[in-house]
Amino acid sequence: MATASHSAHGPQQPMTASASGPLKGRLKPPGDKSISHRALIFGLLAKGETPIEGLLEGDDVLRTADACRALGAKVERLGDGKWKVQGAGLGSLLEPQGVLDFGNAGTGTRLMMGVVGGHAIKATFDGDASLRKRPMRRILDPLVLMGVEVLSETEGGRCPIVIRGTAEPAPIEYRSPVASAQLKSAILLAGLNSPGRTTVIEGEASRDHTEKMLAYFGATVHVEKDGAHGRKITLEGRPELKAREVIVPADPSSAAFPLVAALLVPGSDVTIEGMMMNPLRIGLLTTLQEMGANIEVTNPRIEGGEDVADLRVRHAQLKGVDVPADRAPSMIDEYPVLAVAAAFATGETRMRGLSELRVKESDRLAAVAEGLRVNGVTYAIEGDDLIVQGAGKVAGGGTVETHLDHRIAMSFLVMGLVSQKPVTIDDAAMIATSFPTFRPALERLGAIFS
Ligand code: S3P
Repeated sequence: MATASHSAHGPQQPMTASASGPLKGRLKPPGDKSISHRALIFGLLAKGETPIEGLLEGDDVLRTADACRALGAKVERLGDGKWKVQGAGLGSLLEPQGVLDFGNAGTGTRLMMGVVGGHAIKATFDGDASLRKRPMRRILDPLVLMGVEVLSETEGGRCPIVIRGTAEPAPIEYRSPVASAQLKSAILLAGLNSPGRTTVIEGEASRDHTEKMLAYFGATVHVEKDGAHGRKITLEGRPELKAREVIVPADPSSAAFPLVAALLVPGSDVTIEGMMMNPLRIGLLTTLQEMGANIEVTNPRIEGGEDVADLRVRHAQLKGVDVPADRAPSMIDEYPVLAVAAAFATGETRMRGLSELRVKESDRLAAVAEGLRVNGVTYAIEGDDLIVQGAGKVAGGGTVETHLDHRIAMSFLVMGLVSQKPVTIDDAAMIATSFPTFRPALERLGAIFS
């Protein structure tokens, strides 16, 4: 458990952001976290050698690399984001000897539960105090339908959890109760070793990296529309997965921090290079554009099978908007930093349908609300909606509790670059899970941290 001066990862590292001059320059955000986890996992499941370029070398992804090793892959870092994975191959995974410790990473945990679920091996899943609070029943329920045994779980379906997978996962059709790419991916990854077809139906389309990578590695996947916003994904079991090179584009969820910082700091002009523009990931961009942001999308291209572009971002005065609930899956990780942008906008911003924010690395709805409050921002929570009253400026001066949540940490540091008084966060350690170069990268643009 975290104490006053220690996080789960050692002594807390407080950090302060102060009003900064114009932010200027170019920045390439680190590799996408979702694709990085999946690149390693597909490398594990494929036969042959999977070269990876641009892998996010953040703690979350390194935990997945360790889990891949424990399951029989040879995973090697060649340097500078270049890695290679020698796969164990679908159906040939080893039973891990120790606990699979995923640290802070929900994605690694949930996807690997699916992988283990499709093999006749036993594994124990655990992580830090944040991960131990996160709901895993949503993953275990469909896996049990496929034949997975839950040998032990902590109250409420929390980690540590021990499961025994099956070499013959039953083919299922599963209607997902939440728009969750992690849930969808766990089922599809377990379904890989099923002798039949596995179908997942989601009411709102969530990020589609798993489906895309399944097809890229040689599996047969059908994707159809289901209702106004949903999708039905069907996977043919037991494909031969062949190793292929993966190029990881820059993470839009990490790009969000320098992007919002450049919009808010007067006089800024920042170019974000190579950002992934997958339509299921860029809800924040749409929202910021509706708020009046000055973002020029240049040099659109395809890299590693994903749309990418460079974004030139200049300061603009934003105005409040109403963000519809059906946009949430495409910007689910961006609400904390959007709330910061909304605080500096003029007028009210209503963000609808945020129930999933309560079960992220922290209860993000509560953590954002508290961060706004201690910095003098007026807000309200109505049901699952967050309403921020933008006053065009923020007093600042608060110390924000980050609750082992990297995105809470980075969001409120962005606030401190523009607020009247500096903003302090209690612990910057978790930033290393997704954006290890956050501090130097933003300092190079002109951000002042201490
Ligand atoms: C992710 C899916 C999302 C997102 C997370 C990464 C993924 O979670 O919040 O950061 O890589 O599949 P949910 O599936 O719980 O919505």
